[in-house]
Amino acid sequence: MMLEKKKILVAVTGSIAAYKAAYLVRLLVQCGAEVKVMLSPGALQFVTPLTFSTLSKNPVFSDFTENKDSGVWNHHVELALWADLMVVAPASANTLSKMAHGQSDNFLLATYMSARCPVMIAPAMDHDMFMHGGTRDNLRKLRDFGHHILAPGEGELASGLLGQGRMAEPQEIIDAIIAHFHPALPLKGQQVLVTAGPTYEKLDPVRFIGNYSSGKMGLALATALAQKGAHVHLVIGPNHLKIQHPQIEVHAVESANEMLGACLAVFDQCQLTVLSAAVADYRPAQQATEKIKKQGDHLVLELVKNPDIAATLGQRKKKHQKLVGFALETTNEKEHAADKLHRKNLDLIVLNSLRNEGAGFGTETNQISLIWPDNISQDFGLMSKQKVAEIIVDAAIDLLKTS
Ligand code: CTP
Repeated sequence: MMLEKKKILVAVTGSIAAYKAAYLVRLLVQCGAEVKVMLSPGALQFVTPLTFSTLSKNPVFSDFTENKDSGVWNHHVELALWADLMVVAPASANTLSKMAHGQSDNFLLATYMSARCPVMIAPAMDHDMFMHGGTRDNLRKLRDFGHHILAPGEGELASGLLGQGRMAEPQEIIDAIIAHFHPALPLKGQQVLVTAGPTYEKLDPVRFIGNYSSGKMGLALATALAQKGAHVHLVIGPNHLKIQHPQIEVHAVESANEMLGACLAVFDQCQLTVLSAAVADYRPAQQATEKIKKQGDHLVLELVKNPDIAATLGQRKKKHQKLVGFALETTNEKEHAADKLHRKNLDLIVLNSLRNEGAGFGTETNQISLIWPDNISQDFGLMSKQKVAEIIVDAAIDLLKTS
């Protein structure tokens, strides 16, 4: 777990994006972090302490005293010194301004001013508030204080306006936090794409053409890439896997066409793509809208070619992007695999041998050879899919170094 034993203080302020902070806290806990949450008076208008105490498994702080008559004092200095990192998410325009000017008129701000740990800030507000000179000045100041500002994204805002101001997505904040604690990770801050699993090609509402791919190899790859710091887009066909990793964003698809669409949506922002999906080469020419009824003794299906995702991305890739494909061969294995590598413009191909028991679909183990464009190859023995994934990821990282 990438944030094991890290103490993270999440400060939530008054913005509609406060609801997203709940998901952030959940992801942090999944990463093994110890999380404590502070809510500003403004945040209490949007979310309740109970949500955050349940998710963080810790009491939530919103004022200097527990309740007016208790006389129990929440110690802001103690809390500030406890944290390894303070994350202000969402940071409203009002809180940013107070942070920039040293105001401490609530518990959250007093704790912020007492903190000696690094501070990460994810602003969230309406577009015009974000563009206002005052906010710009405040952000500049906060950057000068050494704080890390996570730029808000563009898009539709809660007000209905379009523009910049939307809080960075919880997953992006997690990526930044992991990158902060693991500066040496080779894929930190990078996005990668992995295709995995089978595709199902619909015949009619109740039938499809599919294959036995389980998606296990793809998930092992996605996990190994995430452990090296990457944000992984996992485009995966129908599967029974439990995928719960804060750095793996799952894009669930069914057919080859859907898989291609999901890949194209993220490909340009990915430095590395690993194509481990078992994509159906053909799909039924027609998809019946009603269940096909039994007729004579024979049924002939007409199939048409599916897009080749690897080849499409191979044509589209820029110099800084690297592509790793798989080949499953039964005869003249290396020759066919090398041919595939050139045809699809890949930078590395992983040859899966079906000759050995324990290698291939649905198994826990795999046996591979790696083949590079200059026809150099390296053979490996039978090993777990996890170990195979680590070998492939290490080879892929070497490819990125050459771009
Ligand atoms: N692949 C793909 N899209 C397809 C077919 C294959 O992206 N429509 C990818 C696979 O994920 C794999 C590589 O291309 O990384 C090779 O897959 P394979 O099925 O072995 O290759 P094919 O081109 O289908 O070749 P053939 O069926 O002739 O062996």
